[in-house]
Amino acid sequence: MFVKNISLIGFMGCGKSTIGKILADDLNFVFLDLDNLIEYIEGLPIKEIFEKYGEDYFRTSESRIIKKIYNNKKCVFACGGGIFKKEDNIKEIRQNSFVVYLFMTVEEAYERLKYVKNRPLLIVEGDLKTRIAQIMNERKEVYENNCDLKIKVEGKYPGQIKEEVITYLNDH
Ligand code: S3P
Repeated sequence: MFVKNISLIGFMGCGKSTIGKILADDLNFVFLDLDNLIEYIEGLPIKEIFEKYGEDYFRTSESRIIKKIYNNKKCVFACGGGIFKKEDNIKEIRQNSFVVYLFMTVEEAYERLKYVKNRPLLIVEGDLKTRIAQIMNERKEVYENNCDLKIKVEGKYPGQIKEEVITYLNDH
């Protein structure tokens, strides 16, 4: 299958950046991490953008960057977990890329994220697993309804997941 670009979507911690890098390398595509680009443009880490300006500001910044970078070709984009919160983003991303949804269970996400401190949406007073389940529930449907390929990540190495994407593209 010929693809213009590839977008990796899914919950925080599912491996979008790790897999995106090796996938881009293999395909000879350019790898772009949207969170990193936002941090670069804003001159602040994501956590501080949220603290200083709030989530809406971050989402606006996210949408603005999408409008700019999705004109490119031969890129693998690692998208932030909340990228599909805006309809316009879904449209732009679907129109300009092959969308791979990397999915995992709440338990797996909890294991991967329990010591992580740089995800503002997961800094909570209460139970982290409950919070993860809540956000995942809110987003599951939109991820599922807006992807071209869905891959389970738990129990696999990044290289295996990358191969699954490549095999799918070669076979279609
Ligand atoms: C977010 C996910 C993060 C980052 C921000 C918000 C989300 O990216 O964009 O903290 O809403 O799920 P990762 O999915 O790369 O962790």
